[in-house]
Amino acid sequence: MDLLDRLRLEHPVVQAGMGGGIARAELAAAVSNAGGLGTLGIMPPAELGREIGRCRELAPGRPLAVNLLVPFLRRAHVRACVEGRVDVVVLFFGHAPWAVSALRDAGIMVLHQVGEADEARRVLAEGADGLIAQGIEAGGHLRAVRPLREALPRLLDVARERPVLAAGGVATAEDVRAVVDAGAAAAVAGTRFLLTEECHAHPAYQRRVLGAETTVDTELFGFGWPARHRVVPNRATERWDGARAVLAVNNRTGWLGGVVPLGALRTMTVAQRPGLPLFGPGAALRGMPERVVDATPLYAGQGARDIRTIVPAATAVRELAGLR
Ligand SMILES: Cc1cc2nc3c(=O)[nH]c(=O)nc-3n(C[C@H](O)[C@H](O)[C@H](O)COP(=O)(O)O)c2cc1C
Repeated sequence: MDLLDRLRLEHPVVQAGMGGGIARAELAAAVSNAGGLGTLGIMPPAELGREIGRCRELAPGRPLAVNLLVPFLRRAHVRACVEGRVDVVVLFFGHAPWAVSALRDAGIMVLHQVGEADEARRVLAEGADGLIAQGIEAGGHLRAVRPLREALPRLLDVARERPVLAAGGVATAEDVRAVVDAGAAAAVAGTRFLLTEECHAHPAYQRRVLGAETTVDTELFGFGWPARHRVVPNRATERWDGARAVLAVNNRTGWLGGVVPLGALRTMTVAQRPGLPLFGPGAALRGMPERVVDATPLYAGQGARDIRTIVPAATAVRELAGLR
């Protein structure tokens, strides 16, 4: 059975899980109600359990995915997904075979987002049901090392009959059609859904991303999670991107993600200043002071340049599906 049938999707359109409070129940439910696959981003486990419940109320009978970032993964996240009987879990950025087994034993489909063939072979050997191929055009954290049009065929080769979805720079119906024609089971879009009404990103963050011509691949916002990510430039990147001392500090903090509660990240996010180079991965959310957009990661992909309007998520699904 193909992916669309198994998940009861009307369109080959998946909203990427955007963590730290960006993609909550309103967004995931709106996408799933419109015939795509909505995804909750990672958040503290108790909150995740509540958001799964809210999603089920807002989108009864529709499929639901949850994204779990391995550096921040706790057993309680897996329990919340199993108890909430979510349809799909997407893992990213690391390996957690124990979680793959527990989720699959509960009948949950496990997809793993990867950039390269070696990583793909490993996650499939660990039991993943399918892959998300990430191209370097993608917004947010990056495992990708090559453009999507090069990554996708390589990963399709590795996956053989297992489904491969495609992420990175998918912003228009033409982009969706291109990846599906190239063999992807569906397209995954992050930046397009960042720029929707149901998204919980700060409106000033959304405005900076709309139509942005430039993005940078940086490690600046790596305090607690030293890793590459794509962002729209702001005062923090203009002043500190590439500063060796900042990277050296970040590189000593990778262990924090496994011990510090995810909720504490939000406290750090609000405390950040462009002049003080301690930059964690938390993004500016609705309700935070507007000044934080110059001191936090404005995660966005290269597709931002093709997106001119903030629309309801259902409109984004329909547009990506080529319906209007
Ligand atoms: C604002 C934002 C936040 C993201 N957060 C996550 C995340 O928490 N987990 C994850 O697996 N990927 C995350 N991503 C990356 C997406 O999974 C995906 O690779 C990317 O959005 C695809 O490229 P696009 O943004 O050009 O559509 C994020 C992307 C964006 C734009």
